Amino acid sequence: MSAGISDLPADAVRVCASSDLADRGAGVRHAAKLGGGDVVVFFVRYDGRAYGYLNRCAHVPMELDWAEGQFFESSGLYLMCATHGAIYAPDTGKCVGGPCRGGKLRPVQVDERDTPDGRAVFWLPDGDLRPATV
Ligand code: FES
Repeated sequence: MSAGISDLPADAVRVCASSDLADRGAGVRHAAKLGGGDVVVFFVRYDGRAYGYLNRCAHVPMELDWAEGQFFESSGLYLMCATHGAIYAPDTGKCVGGPCRGGKLRPVQVDERDTPDGRAVFWLPDGDLRPATV
């Protein structure tokens, strides 16, 4: 019954088990490359769905999390940048308050599906934002 992973793009990356992403809980970071530089993408769950973004504030290009993997502010409604408090809608990445107003997080494509090893979250890289090779 499971769709499996055979139809995923060849460059799809397994990020984590679905159970690792608690709704409005801690996110999972993944090393990436952008234009030859080291960056991080992150994945969170919001209202049951997994979302992923480049970990870079639209205000100043800094990482958002105040402690590794902590992206939601205390209400669990928004992703927050620890540096100057910009807040973003978790489902669209749009800035909804703070100094990033009008800005947007760079989204990454996410797929979540059943696999032989259980349900898992995948990153489907696009453009020049690629997984870092280990
Ligand atoms: S760097 Fe994110 S709010 Fe300023």
